[in-house]
Amino acid sequence: MTAVLKFKQAIANQLSKHTPCQPKDITTFMRPSKKQQGHISIALPKLNASLQDPTPHQDLVAWTQRIADNFEPNEFIESASADTTNLFFKFNQSEFTKQVLQQVYHDNKSYGWSHLPKPTASQRTVLIDYSSPNIAKPFHAGHLRSTIIGNFIRIIHEAVGYNVIGINYLGDWGKQYGLLAVGFEKYGDESKLISDPIHHLYQVYVQINADAKQDSEIDRRANEYFKKMEEGDPTALEQWSRFRDMSIKSYASIYERLNVKFDVYSGESQVNPYIQQAQDLLHQKNLLTRTNDGAYAVDLEQYKLGKVVVQRADGTSLYVTRDLASVLMRKQVYPFQKAIYVVGSEQSNYFKQMFQISNLMVDTKLDLQHVGFGRIKGMSTRKGTVVFLQDILDTAKERILEYMNANAEKSQIKDIDTIADQLGMSAILIQDMKSKRGKDYEFSWERMTDARGDTGVFLQYAHARACGIERKSGIEITPHVDFSILKEKEALDLIQSISTFPEVVENALQSLEPSTLVNYLFKLSHATSAASAFLRVKDMDTDTSKARMLLFWSARATLRNGLHLLGIKPIKKM
Ligand code: ARG
Repeated sequence: MTAVLKFKQAIANQLSKHTPCQPKDITTFMRPSKKQQGHISIALPKLNASLQDPTPHQDLVAWTQRIADNFEPNEFIESASADTTNLFFKFNQSEFTKQVLQQVYHDNKSYGWSHLPKPTASQRTVLIDYSSPNIAKPFHAGHLRSTIIGNFIRIIHEAVGYNVIGINYLGDWGKQYGLLAVGFEKYGDESKLISDPIHHLYQVYVQINADAKQDSEIDRRANEYFKKMEEGDPTALEQWSRFRDMSIKSYASIYERLNVKFDVYSGESQVNPYIQQAQDLLHQKNLLTRTNDGAYAVDLEQYKLGKVVVQRADGTSLYVTRDLASVLMRKQVYPFQKAIYVVGSEQSNYFKQMFQISNLMVDTKLDLQHVGFGRIKGMSTRKGTVVFLQDILDTAKERILEYMNANAEKSQIKDIDTIADQLGMSAILIQDMKSKRGKDYEFSWERMTDARGDTGVFLQYAHARACGIERKSGIEITPHVDFSILKEKEALDLIQSISTFPEVVENALQSLEPSTLVNYLFKLSHATSAASAFLRVKDMDTDTSKARMLLFWSARATLRNGLHLLGIKPIKKM
């Protein structure tokens, strides 16, 4: 149980003497107003609204007066009083401080989620489909967001104890591979392919696309080639699979740089064996209707989702057909209880349709969830509009290096290159996750690398600074300190901030909304720097030093855990 919950429980127990009350009914906590410092104030209308049975409280004022009159002190709450709008509980501050800091000390690397119930066997396996770029096409901003947000969703589930299967569902099938093959015959360069497959294949793809616009013969040959691929022609498949393997390999190194992991590189090409099965199921369940031009569609009008073509007139599959087949494949190969698709919000309607057809196809309500996000606007580097993820990462790093080189303290940093890369990555990640994911945002190099603004660079500085306090003071971290020493406003604010982290994690897991966590970390870091400006650790009497050191260590551990959930490696020295 978290420290906050223990205190809420203590209050709920008091209220329960008069009407049933749960800790969760206490919605306001530890946000004491200035004049009520040391008190938890609960606004009556709010309390009344959250109670299951508010009926006995027609006369709230009389009710709360009764609670105050019958109050019995305990280790957490010292006294109670009421006025016409609020109920006040004076809490035992040093007991609270002790509960919070000892919990951080004890849980350490799992502080924030150790209190959450472990998922039961019947809900344990969660499949997450994220990143999913298209081979030989640009890795666009949407793929970057899917990678970042998907990775967060993965880590937070893993932390809580879910068995996560992270799938990179590559766009690696379709007519464009026929085109790419024709293009490679004309423009392919083996050595360029080997040294940089992503760039080279993209170049070839752009060139042959331009040619195809002039010459319909190219299109015909591309179709022919793709048909050979679909028929399983070994030579056609060999080249395609070589392109695919090379692309995966070079993506993998970028993902590694980003600290992003997948369990499976799958893709549209891998679901072929299940396409027939999907079509048969749809047929058996009488879900297919023939369209005028001979294609097959599923009619979802009764769900207000229109008609969805699932098989072309020439028998070939579409994006949706392959997604339906992949649901069948995933059910069989990675039996999941829940599947999360992290894809831009422009595909929201598509996923509603696909999920509805899936449920009809297997005749069960599958737990499928689309986690959408808005667009990034204006993402460009000095080379122009962005096509490659690597350019974004390199530009971020360059900018940080420029800043660091201009900074007088640079000589102290040993591995400036690695640090700059990590800072650049943090800047990109935090910019991406700081606003609600559904919103569009404007990409800005200036804003994201500003060490004083609310940025990834700022969070990393805060972490490194806190590490510095530990290093410089040389004081041992111990959970047995005199907690009553921590009584300054800055200390109390920081303790309060640390105490709410578990609640923030719980909310972020619920909403799959990383911005909740990012904004919390900004507040925590501000509270930490306010406290560190005011509360010396070194050269104080031993008891004060020890108590403050534990406080700063706890703040740092909390920040580190938060960064970990966001997929960011905290920097210790910079
Ligand atoms: N490759 C697709 C795109 O770039 C995203 C795939 C998302 N996942 C899925 N199962 N449909 O738009």
